[in-house]
Amino acid sequence: MRKFLLAAAAAFILPTLVSGAPAFAAEEVKPMHREWNFNGLLGKFDKQQLQRGFQVYKEVCASCHSLNFISFRNLESIGYSEDQVKVIAAEYQITDGPDENGDMFQRPGRPSDHIPHPFANDQLARASNGGALPPDLSLMTKAREDGPNYVYSLMLGYKDAPNGFELNPGMSYNEFFPGHQIAMPQQITDDRVTYADGTKASADQIAQDVVAFLHWAAEPKLEVRHATGIRVMLFAFLFTVLAYFYKRRLWARLEKH
Ligand code: HEC
Repeated sequence: MRKFLLAAAAAFILPTLVSGAPAFAAEEVKPMHREWNFNGLLGKFDKQQLQRGFQVYKEVCASCHSLNFISFRNLESIGYSEDQVKVIAAEYQITDGPDENGDMFQRPGRPSDHIPHPFANDQLARASNGGALPPDLSLMTKAREDGPNYVYSLMLGYKDAPNGFELNPGMSYNEFFPGHQIAMPQQITDDRVTYADGTKASADQIAQDVVAFLHWAAEPKLEVRHATGIRVMLFAFLFTVLAYFYKRRLWARLEKH
């Protein structure tokens, strides 16, 4: 009996210690799974999709979330021309300075500027979001396990809370958020944006596009990495073949003697 009690205690306490959450907490739901065109050894980004994703970020997410690691000129690598980037940058007001009187001032954005923060500071960001801080999205798809699938699912995971679920005021129910209560209201619905390239903006399409864009933001060099990987593998393969023939020649000679 004592052994049984000990085992039972261990079964509950150990997972709690390891995961930091009580073992009996609501089970986490696995995210929905998509085949992303940027995954896999030959994975590539679709620039058209990245531009749509940027449009979604700009029109929907940027009012709450920063994208610290991206400057406007980085957008050239998703297919915008230098002139287009200048126009995009100039739509933003950047705080610069101090000027000779010691005052900060506003000026239109330049390609070398980073995309500005939506809030002057974290306190203001929290105060505007019921106490929760909208995290920076630059590395989000890498920071979360199975990131692209998780963010995609999170975007589409809003539902009415099931009967008996106590939702705190100002919170939304989301199937895929740990604990299911999230301070971010639903953002993506059908036709939330009107795409510049004419693509039909279903909620699913918008979610895919913004995830692709965020994944590019988290790993702009993904294609270079994949190409290097392929070259390394080709080299290793050729090297193996050469080593094999060299070995055969060497042994052929040795066996003759
Ligand atoms: C009105 C403000 C607001 C907008 C607009 C908004 N978010 Fe959020 N978002 C938040 C807040 C607040 C949180 C923190 C939620 C929490 O901790 O409960 C959050 C959290 C997140 C998270 C992190 C979830 C996690 O696992 O911690 C992701 C990813 C996210 N938002 C993506 C987006 C995307 C993509 C968009 C645009 C399509 C967007 N958000 C638009 C306020 C916003």
